[in-house]
Amino acid sequence: MDAAAGTPGSVMQRCDALAEISEERGLLVRPYGSEAMRRVNEKVEGWMLRAGMSVRTDAAGNLIGRYEGMGEGTFILGSHLDTVRDAGLYDGPLGVLIALACVERLHARDERLPFAVEVVAFADEEGLRFGTTYLGSSHYAGAFDEDLLELADRDGVTLAEAARDFGGDPDVLTGPGSAPKDILGYCEVHIEQGPVLEERDLPVGVVSAITGLSRIKVSFSGQAGHAGTVPMEGRRDALCAAAEFILEAEAAAQAEPGSVATVGEISARPGAGNVIPGEVDLSLDVRHGDDAVRESLRDHLRSKAAEISASRGCEHRWQARQESIAVPADPYLGVLLEEAIEDAGVEALRLPSGAGHDAAQMAEICPVAMLFVRCKDGISHNPAESVEEEDVAVTIDVMGRFLRLVAEGGRGR
Ligand code: GLV
Ligand code: MN
Ligand code: MN
Repeated sequence: MDAAAGTPGSVMQRCDALAEISEERGLLVRPYGSEAMRRVNEKVEGWMLRAGMSVRTDAAGNLIGRYEGMGEGTFILGSHLDTVRDAGLYDGPLGVLIALACVERLHARDERLPFAVEVVAFADEEGLRFGTTYLGSSHYAGAFDEDLLELADRDGVTLAEAARDFGGDPDVLTGPGSAPKDILGYCEVHIEQGPVLEERDLPVGVVSAITGLSRIKVSFSGQAGHAGTVPMEGRRDALCAAAEFILEAEAAAQAEPGSVATVGEISARPGAGNVIPGEVDLSLDVRHGDDAVRESLRDHLRSKAAEISASRGCEHRWQARQESIAVPADPYLGVLLEEAIEDAGVEALRLPSGAGHDAAQMAEICPVAMLFVRCKDGISHNPAESVEEEDVAVTIDVMGRFLRLVAEGGRGR
C-alpha cells in the first residue's frame, strides 16, 4: 500500500520505485537524456502535480515543480535524478523526494509561505554520459559552458544532439537559464556519502563547504601489434603507459594529505587478448578542499602523463572536462539550518563535502545550503547505499522548520 504523501514512508517507497527505472536490467543506471530519465521525470512530474505544483521541463531536461507563495521571491530545493553506473537508491533522488515531501505537507495544510518554492530535479549531476558534472544545474543557473555542446558520448552522440533528442534546445541551453530571477536561496538535501554522521550518531548535519574538482580525459597512443611476435623491448604499449600513470596518480594523491585522485573509467583499443593495445582513454578525477592544492596536484599529474608517455615512445592528450572550485556554504542559511536542527532536538554538526553537488553550481547565482543525511557505513556510488526511514523523518521535519525560519528571518540569535 502507498504511504501517505509527505511521510518518510512515502519518500522511502518512492526511492524504491525510482530505482526500478534503469537503462539496464539488474543494475541502476540513468544517464543524461536516456529513456530511463524520461520515465523518472514523468513519474516525479505526476507527484509534483498532485502536490499542487505547476510543472515545467527546461531545455536541459531539468524537471521543475513550482509551489506558489503569498509574496515575492522563490526559494529553491532540489537535487538530481540521474545516477552513476550501478548506483544506489538515494544519491540524488532522496533530495528531490524530501523536497517534494516538504511541499506536500504545505499543500495538505493548504499553507502558503511568503515566497514560492521550486523543487528542481536536475537532469545531470553525475556526468556519467559526457564526463562533466552539473550539466542540469549549470543550465538552470544560466552558466552552461557552450564548449560542452561538442562533447561526445561513447557512441559519438554529442551533448547538443542528446539535449535535442531529450526535447531540449542546445541554443537555449547556453542562454540565460531557467531559474527565476527572484531567487532567495537554494537548499539541497543529500546523503552524506561518508562515515562522519554515523560515527557521531547523528541523523543529519550541515555542510560547511563543497569540494573543488578537476575531471580530465587522458589518452595515450602507442602502436598496436601482434602479442606473439613483437618483442618486449621497443613496444609502444598504450595500456602499460596508462597503468604507470594510474599508479602515479594514486601515489601522488597519497602523498598529499586531504587529496584524492581516481581513475574510474578506462578503455583500451583495439581490445583483443592477442593485440598490444595501441590506444587508451581514461578518466581522471582529482579533488581537494583547497583549490591551490588540487591545481598543483593536477598539474603534477599532467607533467607525469607527458613524462610517462615520452619514456615509452607513446603520445598523450590531456583534455580538461571540468574545473570546479571549492564552494563554501552561505553562513546565514547555515545558521538557519543549525537552528532548525537544534529545534528538532538534534545536535547541529558542520562537516565538509568531498562529493560534488548541484549546490556548488547554484552558488553562482544565490546563497546555498546543504543538509546531509546519515547513510550506512558511509557507502555511496554503490548499490549498497542505505538510509534509515527514521533519519528521513528527522530530515523532513528539519527542512520544514528551516523553510519557516527562512520565512521569519531566523530566530535572530
Ligand atoms: C558526484 O557524485 C561527484 O561527487 O562526483
Ligand atoms: Mn553521486
Ligand atoms: Mn549526488
